[in-house]
Amino acid sequence: MAVSDCMRNQSGNPGRTAGGFGRRLLFDVRNQLAGMFGIPDTSRIIFTPNATTGINLAIRGILQDGDRVVTSSMEHNAVCRPLAALQKQKNIQVDVIQTSPEGYLDPDDLKRALNKPANLVVINHVSNVTGAVNDLKSLCTCIKTAGVTCMIDASQSAGVIPIDVEKDAIDILAAPGHKNLLGPTGTGFCYFSPDVNPEPLVFGGTGSYSELVDQPEHLPDRYEAGTSNFHGLAGLSAGIHYLLEQGFSSIMHKDNDTSRTILAGLQAIDGIKLHGPGHVERRMPVFSITCPGKDPADLANLLEEEFNLLTRVGLHCAPWAHRTANTYPEGTVRISPGLFHSREDLQYFLKSLDQAVTMLFS
Ligand SMILES: Cc1ncc(COP(=O)(O)O)c(C=O)c1O
Repeated sequence: MAVSDCMRNQSGNPGRTAGGFGRRLLFDVRNQLAGMFGIPDTSRIIFTPNATTGINLAIRGILQDGDRVVTSSMEHNAVCRPLAALQKQKNIQVDVIQTSPEGYLDPDDLKRALNKPANLVVINHVSNVTGAVNDLKSLCTCIKTAGVTCMIDASQSAGVIPIDVEKDAIDILAAPGHKNLLGPTGTGFCYFSPDVNPEPLVFGGTGSYSELVDQPEHLPDRYEAGTSNFHGLAGLSAGIHYLLEQGFSSIMHKDNDTSRTILAGLQAIDGIKLHGPGHVERRMPVFSITCPGKDPADLANLLEEEFNLLTRVGLHCAPWAHRTANTYPEGTVRISPGLFHSREDLQYFLKSLDQAVTMLFS
């Protein structure tokens, strides 16, 4: 609705003279994000088309030849692949800390890894495979104490778990707009604290400092080359507005209720194995399941064809995480109920899953 209204009624490029509406909109969204994530300076919020671009911008813009990065065994390919590329291109050293099979990174293991000098730590807040929620405060405190730059991939948590970049001591935060911030695809953002100044990845028009041949130093222009996706950002603004109206406590309450219902339902179905936390605490409603001895793809196909239920099957762009959860190479069936699923939807899912598992083993 917000996107369609913006496309029908607003034109003009936000970075150019005719773009008054778009410029205001961009300020508004930056203000909303700043409020939600405790960011004191809105100009340090950079709009990106997704989380991957923000993660690349930071990793590729900061790391130099021979630098050392510490990361975890639960990361998404959005982190693993740029690190692998830089291992070849710049000979960086990547040290991967093993998490528990559920996906929890132990702060003591991180502390030990940081006994040696490092330039960057990059870890996710919540696993997209198991739903495990890392203890952000403890992990970021270890990183800060070691004097290392701290980057958090908040792809799963942004919008549903409170994050405060100052209180949590986060230097770089990257998140998509299209997941729990309820925006459209093609939106996302990253935040850079005043302590980091990555090299830009993309150079070009910003609508500002047109007399300069060099990319402006000014933020956010330094990183926002080219026309922004302001129609998409209109949708992101509406999504954040809705979340702020609901409030974190009511969203987290709903998520915990969902987790409780799904966990109890899964336990009651014979033949299902849950990969990830079996409790409501420190987990989000993202559930990876398998039926031991059966191909996860067969279960996902049954759910889709017989019950019209869409799940995501396979490795979820996170092969390291599946190795950690002992579900590599087949992967799992992932169920990710959202804010708008009702109790009836969850009951329908559990009943259908029970029937699908019976069909699978018959
Ligand atoms: C933990 C995690 N990191 C990064 C990403 C990449 O997000 P995007 O598709 O917005 O680039 C995802 C997406 O699934 C994710 O779950």
